[in-house]
Amino acid sequence: MPAVVVVGAQWGDEAKGKVVDCLAQDADMVVRYGGGSNAGHTVRFDGHEFKLHLVPSGIFRPRVTNIIASGVVVDPQVLVEEIRSLQAQGVAVDNLRISASAHVVMPYHRLLDALEEKQRGSAQIGTTCRGIGPAYADKAARKGIRMADLRQPDRFAEALRRALEEKSRLLKMVYETDCPTFEDIWREYKSYAEILRPMITDTDPLVYHAVKSGQRVVFEGAQGTLLDLDHGTYPYVTSSHPVAGGACVGTGIGPTYIDAVIGVAKAYTTRVGSGAFPTELTNETGNYLRERGREYGTTTGRPRRCGWLDTVVLRYSAQVNGLTAFAMTLLDVLSGLDTVQICRAYRLPNGETIEQFPSDSAVLDRCEPVYEQLPGWKEEIADVRSWEDLPAEAKRYVQRVEELTGTPVAMVSVGPLRTQTFWRHGVSADAPVRSLQALARR
Ligand code: IMP
Repeated sequence: MPAVVVVGAQWGDEAKGKVVDCLAQDADMVVRYGGGSNAGHTVRFDGHEFKLHLVPSGIFRPRVTNIIASGVVVDPQVLVEEIRSLQAQGVAVDNLRISASAHVVMPYHRLLDALEEKQRGSAQIGTTCRGIGPAYADKAARKGIRMADLRQPDRFAEALRRALEEKSRLLKMVYETDCPTFEDIWREYKSYAEILRPMITDTDPLVYHAVKSGQRVVFEGAQGTLLDLDHGTYPYVTSSHPVAGGACVGTGIGPTYIDAVIGVAKAYTTRVGSGAFPTELTNETGNYLRERGREYGTTTGRPRRCGWLDTVVLRYSAQVNGLTAFAMTLLDVLSGLDTVQICRAYRLPNGETIEQFPSDSAVLDRCEPVYEQLPGWKEEIADVRSWEDLPAEAKRYVQRVEELTGTPVAMVSVGPLRTQTFWRHGVSADAPVRSLQALARR
């Protein structure tokens, strides 16, 4: 039962979409387990580029069942748009299923997200304003609307009426803003329900049956470990659980069914939105990484903050996710630099050096990175297709990351295309899911 979780090992945007797309060739099922349309997963192949927010990255493989599981918050407007755009580009979505237990992002969630951000003033989180926080808040407060409600007109009307009683008062009295009317939302959401209804089902048994019967299942994470509500840099986090444990909670699968956990990490670090970022570079090198890595948000278009690779973050990520391997992406972006730096520890203002990621964001704010300097490489490596053909300095860089994290780098990506990928540590390009399982057992 090879079941592999793909998790973001940093602050999101690690190119998980590409990694999941590569694994999907050897998978029967891809299950998106958390987050919502705040995510932006880019998949490129055969001259096409697709940007996915909610649809799992296995959608391009017709024999793969793709599931949006109960841990996801679904904005039907975004999902319907995404489905239409895929269909217009010739991608069939017959193999897509949506959990009836997934919560629905409503127009008032998007409104509240923007208003709450504004109210935070200088303490803004820098959310994507996609309504994610307010939707998860309603879920936790046990007053959310689920896909099971959306598919039944009477149930949806009742749930919407109840929700609007509270939300319209809240918007008016606290934010002096009008709430969209029942009629407007009803009309809009009824049209989404008609399109999505055939795909909405109880997905837990589908996933359970798949793992139980030995099918190859890939659990697709969204965002990254450091954005996790419990384990990230709170309060500058998202409202879901991107960590590997989220794959169990968000799909209804017990932890004993997971065989391998792959942490996707860029060869450097980026972050969008506010919050501590010890290795951030606000200089020419930061700009170099941003431009070469095309570091602008898929969902919001915002320029991403860029910095050196932080192995304190990666060790923490290996710890909280139980990583069995890393996939290192965007290694090609580092070409052309005389030297490259890797953060191996933090220094506190009192001079003390720590190697463990601090759980308190206020402490992290005061941490200075302790760097190791390695020689860079001048050669462009986008055409390299095997470990052996990498420049010696690039190999040294990857190996040093393995030493500092105690975790093998099983996949290296040197560009956005499927073909710009090679595998290591005995992982086969033709059967990556099965061989990642074998690597995890070693
Ligand atoms: P929210 O998820 O929209 O509530 O945003 C909370 C924080 O998570 C903000 O700092 C966002 O920039 C960040 N964030 C949310 N989704 C992503 C993502 O897919 N990639 C990177 N950062 C994200």
